[in-house]
Amino acid sequence: MIYITRKELFCAAHKVARKDWTDEKNKEVFGKCSNPNWHGHNYTMWVTVKGEINPETGFVANLSEISDIIKREILDKVDHKNLDMDVDFMTGKISSTETLAVECWKQLEGPINALGCFLHSVKLQETEKNFVEYFG
Ligand code: NI
Repeated sequence: MIYITRKELFCAAHKVARKDWTDEKNKEVFGKCSNPNWHGHNYTMWVTVKGEINPETGFVANLSEISDIIKREILDKVDHKNLDMDVDFMTGKISSTETLAVECWKQLEGPINALGCFLHSVKLQETEKNFVEYFG
C-alpha cells in the first residue's frame, strides 16, 4: 500500500456561531471566528489517497484525475464563497474546520474510490497554527 497526496488552496468566508445563542455567548465559545459580519481564511487542504501501484502506469492513481475530482467536488463550490451561505454541503452545519473536513471527505470518497484507489485522509488547515485530519 502506498499513499499519495494532492495539496490544494482555497479562500472562503465564514462565521462560526450558533443561531440559537447570543453574539456574546458565541464570542465566548467560538472567539474571533464568531464575528457577526463574517471573516475569511486562506485554507490549505491535503487529500491523501492510498492503493497499490498499477504496474502498467507506475501510479496508484492519476493525480490529474484526483485533481479534477477535488476541483469539481470542493474547490468550485467553496473557493471565494461564503461557507455558511453558498456551499450546499455545509448548509445548516457549523463551519468549524473539523466539520468542513468531514463534509469534504463525504464529497470526495465516492468519486475517488471509483478510480480504484481509496481515500485515506483529508487534512485541512485554517490558520498557520491549527489543522485537522479526518480518516473517515
Ligand atoms: Ni474563522
